[in-house]
Amino acid sequence: MIILGIETSCDETAAAIVENKRGVFKVRSNVVSSQIKIHAKTGGVVPEVAAREHIKNILPVVEQALKEGKATQKDIDAIAVTTGPGLITSLIVGVETAKTLAHVWNKPVVSVNHIEAHLYANFASNKKVSFPLLALIVSGGHTELILMKKHGHYKLIGKTRDDAAGEAFDKVAKILKLGYPGGPIISKLANKGNARAFDLPRPMLKDKTYDFSFSGLKTAVLYESQSKKHNFNSKKKIADMSASFEQATVDVLIKKTTRATKEHKIKTVLLAGGVAANKKLRADLKKELQTELPKVELLLPDLDYCTDNAAMIAVAGYFHARKKEFTQISKIQADPNWELSS
Ligand code: KG4
Ligand code: ZN
Repeated sequence: MIILGIETSCDETAAAIVENKRGVFKVRSNVVSSQIKIHAKTGGVVPEVAAREHIKNILPVVEQALKEGKATQKDIDAIAVTTGPGLITSLIVGVETAKTLAHVWNKPVVSVNHIEAHLYANFASNKKVSFPLLALIVSGGHTELILMKKHGHYKLIGKTRDDAAGEAFDKVAKILKLGYPGGPIISKLANKGNARAFDLPRPMLKDKTYDFSFSGLKTAVLYESQSKKHNFNSKKKIADMSASFEQATVDVLIKKTTRATKEHKIKTVLLAGGVAANKKLRADLKKELQTELPKVELLLPDLDYCTDNAAMIAVAGYFHARKKEFTQISKIQADPNWELSS
C-alpha cells in the first residue's frame, strides 16, 4: 500500500510518500518546507502568516514528495491528512488540498490526528512493539502520557496543566533572548553549561498523578534572569541556565514516565513529538529505564520524524487505511481541538 501524507497543522508544510509492503514501512520521500526563519522574526508563529505560507508551498511540496518518492497519482492507494489538533487556519490548507486531490484522483482519504501521528512516527523504523505501550508525547502544544493496550486504543493518563514542555523551552528561550524555536537552541547551549548551577524546581514531581506543570519552572527562570545576583550578559550564565532548565524539565518527564511504566506494567515505552529530538531527554530516559526496568523496550523516533513531518501522518494513516477507516470527502473537516481518544 502506498500513502501520500499531508501535514500543515502549524508552521511546517509537509508531504511524504510512504509504502508498506507486507507490514514493512519504507519512507520513499519526506519533504518539509519549514517556516522557522519567518516566525523567528516574531518570536513565535503568527497564524495568518503561517496560513499564507502553507498556501504558497503546499502544491510544490506535494509535487516534490511525489517526484522524490518516484510515485505518480496512479500509485497512490490513499491520502492521509492531518485534520487536527492544530491552528485552524493552517489545518484548512492541508485539508482542502487533500480533499481536492482525492476528488480529482478518486482516492480514499484518512483523517489523521496529529498527536496519534507523532506517536506512530516510531513505527516507521519497523521495530517490534509489544503492548501495553506507554507513549510520552512532548511537543510545542502537548505534553501527555498515553497508555495503549492495542493499536488505535488510547487512554490519556497524564497531561500538562499549563504549558507544554516544548512551549516552556520556547518561552525560556524568549526570556533569555535566544531566538525561536527555543528547544534546539537551549539544548545546544546546555551542552556547555552546568546543570547544577541553578537550583530550579521540579514541578509536580512528588504529586501522585501523572500530570505535569511547566509554567512555574518558566517563572523561576524569569525571576533568576531578573535577579541582580547574576549577570545574564555572560555566555557562561546563559549556558548554565539552559542546562539547569533542561535538566529540571527532563527530570520531571523521565521520573513520571518511569513511575507510570512500573505501575501499568508497560512492555514498550516510546517517545514522540518535537521535544523527543532533545538529546538529554533521550539519553536520560534510556539510562533511567535500563536501571529501573531493564526488560522494558524503549523506542526513540529518528530525529527526522520528531518535529512535524508528513511521513508520520502517512504511517498513522496506513494503520487506518488497512482497516478501511476512510472519511467521505464531503465529511472531512479540520478540527483544531481534536483530542486523541479510542
Ligand atoms: O512536534 P513539533 O514540531 O510541533 C508541535 O506539534 O508542537 O514540536 C515543536 C516543539 C517546539 O516547542 C521546539 O522548541 C521543540 O519542539 N523542540 C525541542 C527540540 N527540538 C524541537 N525541544 C527541546 N530540545 C530539542 N532538541
Ligand atoms: Zn507536532
